[in-house]
Amino acid sequence: MLETQFNELAIEIKELKKHFKEVKAVDGVSMKIKKGELFSILGPNGAGKTTLVRMLTTVLTPTAGDAYINGQSILTEKNEIVKQIGVCPQAITIYDVLHAEENVEFVAVMHGMPYKVAKEKARKLLEDFGIAGRKDWAKRFSGGMKRRLNLAMALISDPDILFLDEPSAGLDPQARRLVWDVIRDLKKRDITIILMTHDMVEADSLSDRVAIIDQGKIIAQGTPAELKERYGSDNVLEVSFVEQKDLDIVKTHIKDIPFAVSTSEVQKKGRKTLLIAFQGGLKNLVKLLQQGFVENIDEVKNMKFRQNSLEDVFLNITGRRLRD
Ligand SMILES: Nc1ncnc2c1ncn2[C@@H]1O[C@H](COP(=O)(O)OP(=O)(O)O)[C@@H](O)[C@H]1O
Ligand SMILES: [Mg+2]
Repeated sequence: MLETQFNELAIEIKELKKHFKEVKAVDGVSMKIKKGELFSILGPNGAGKTTLVRMLTTVLTPTAGDAYINGQSILTEKNEIVKQIGVCPQAITIYDVLHAEENVEFVAVMHGMPYKVAKEKARKLLEDFGIAGRKDWAKRFSGGMKRRLNLAMALISDPDILFLDEPSAGLDPQARRLVWDVIRDLKKRDITIILMTHDMVEADSLSDRVAIIDQGKIIAQGTPAELKERYGSDNVLEVSFVEQKDLDIVKTHIKDIPFAVSTSEVQKKGRKTLLIAFQGGLKNLVKLLQQGFVENIDEVKNMKFRQNSLEDVFLNITGRRLRD
């Protein structure tokens, strides 16, 4: 592929703001998203993700700034933009008393597609998503099936750019994985995907690049690996204590260990938990345990040794957890 082709931008956002009175929902966001990328915007509830999507899809008018979708301004070229995008909103939007096929065909016909073509395409899409040929009303579908139906409705017009707002929120683990499989398949098509999520595993496993958003501002961006490298360590040891004094003892000892990068205290299942981020692997883990847990620690509940995650990146930058 030509380098210049790869560098073509699907979206360019310039100092975009949306204020609702004193609430700065989106507060000066700038970024560039390349064609063909799966770009995630990861942030906690209330960070401004949905407000950002609604501006980019021309539903909401910005307070200030502008954004270009395939080179067209969201302020002045709304009609052009709407033809090129697909949107799967956070709140599932389907017609309850239509079948899956009918839902998708309806959207297709609204886009001006001849009925015969629409019917054929709808069937194909629903087959890909595992919900073809069902004769029950969409309102009887499970959450995961409704989500996949909504995705099919967003894709029927062959958009260049697809916006997914929290596509797996509220789904059980199995339905969530099915939605992820569908998104992975979409990546193989020639489509740019902007994914809004508060789920760090989702962002980590699906994205080419991630921007982390908090309180209406982008606080970091890069590939998942870059972010973890830049703001984190190699590994994390999580230890839950019964007594705060034990946690304090360990924390004091850890301070002097050069390969221990940082410590943070969080509540996990109601227990005081110390997260110790450190460089290196197993050898350093053993040293950490030998040097950090020297004195009489009364009891330790739960120890977990794991790789650094995007959750740690968020914690390192903001001092808070994504789910707080
Ligand atoms: N229409 C609105 N009127 C007033 N405040 C709003 C409106 N929409 C969103 N907000 C506020 O803007 C902030 C960002 O919300 P939202 O974009 O929905 O965040 P996210 O999608 O990341 O959870 C929140 O504080 C929310 O309460
Ligand atoms: Mg939202």
